[in-house]
Amino acid sequence: EESGIIGYEHYMLKEIQESPRAVRDTLAGIRFDQVSEAASLIRNSERVLVVGSGTSYHAGLLFGHLLEKEGYDVRTLIASEATTLRPREGDVLISISQSGETLDVLNAVKNHFKKYNIKSISLTNRIESALNFVSDIRLHTRAGPEVGVAATKTFTSQLAALLYLKSLIVGEPTDYLEGAPAAVSNSLSQQGYAKAIGEELCKKSDMFYLGRGMGVPLAMEGALKIKEVAYIHAEAYPAGESKHGPIALISDGFPVFFVNDGERTALLINNLKEMKARRAKTYSVSVNSRIGADEEIYFEGDSSLAPFYISPFLQMVAYFAAVCKGANPDRPRNLAKTVTVE
Ligand code: G6P
Repeated sequence: EESGIIGYEHYMLKEIQESPRAVRDTLAGIRFDQVSEAASLIRNSERVLVVGSGTSYHAGLLFGHLLEKEGYDVRTLIASEATTLRPREGDVLISISQSGETLDVLNAVKNHFKKYNIKSISLTNRIESALNFVSDIRLHTRAGPEVGVAATKTFTSQLAALLYLKSLIVGEPTDYLEGAPAAVSNSLSQQGYAKAIGEELCKKSDMFYLGRGMGVPLAMEGALKIKEVAYIHAEAYPAGESKHGPIALISDGFPVFFVNDGERTALLINNLKEMKARRAKTYSVSVNSRIGADEEIYFEGDSSLAPFYISPFLQMVAYFAAVCKGANPDRPRNLAKTVTVE
């Protein structure tokens, strides 16, 4: 499956389509002893520090949000800025990196946090990586090798592993995650719609992604993806914050993409109306309930699985916007798969 690109124009689309398998393998491959130990470390901690870069940072933000909702004290940090935080006794660190080699992450863990003797957990997609060697507990995703520079199936797999970990931490059943691969497949079945939206966005130079709750990191990841591969200037905001500045940019046809995880929908509808009143062109990827965007892709499903419907769809939108622009999504200009400089 992972050995070639036969039948696909780009690795990016091939890897997006491998996501149901990647998520399934990640969940099936979780080592219960390791993840239980990680869960109990976090449960017994006073504060949780989460670090990552790029897409992995967004996975960390989503995880942090879920723990915060359960009453945990969480600080999610961009790796290159994490070294200004002074850890204290009772902290536990979780570092997230697909490659396990990103220098900003390694530097934060190895040259900074380790000096304070706090316990650390890592989540990588590679068994043998530099990050693994400096972590006390090693968790893995099993997405398989990812060739496309922009992270796709590894992100969805990180979310699967992190949601599993979160469920263990708070003592809830994990069986709802059995629905995750099917949610991803369901999302992928909407490729035609993603293509149509991507081709519309391809003509635009600027756009917003707005969400609430776990929709915020998912919006940030949506914006990062379309920026990386389609060179569209996209900014993400918590939807409620959009009225404190960003809305000044809205005029006729300005694209605003809502990420609707099915929670606090009434508030999201207010934000949507504010955008429509200024003649924005509105899009939404919605789970569980509709909000009434001009273009709305709707998935009937459980809010707790929302990331598995939302992320693959936004990845496909970015992919098709890139292809429409004539860009090569596998090799975006100026970017590297793994950044080993500070
Ligand atoms: C690079 C890639 C991004 C990736 C980031 C972190 O900037 O272009 O796609 O998210 O590194 O990579 P990691 O391997 O640490 O997850």
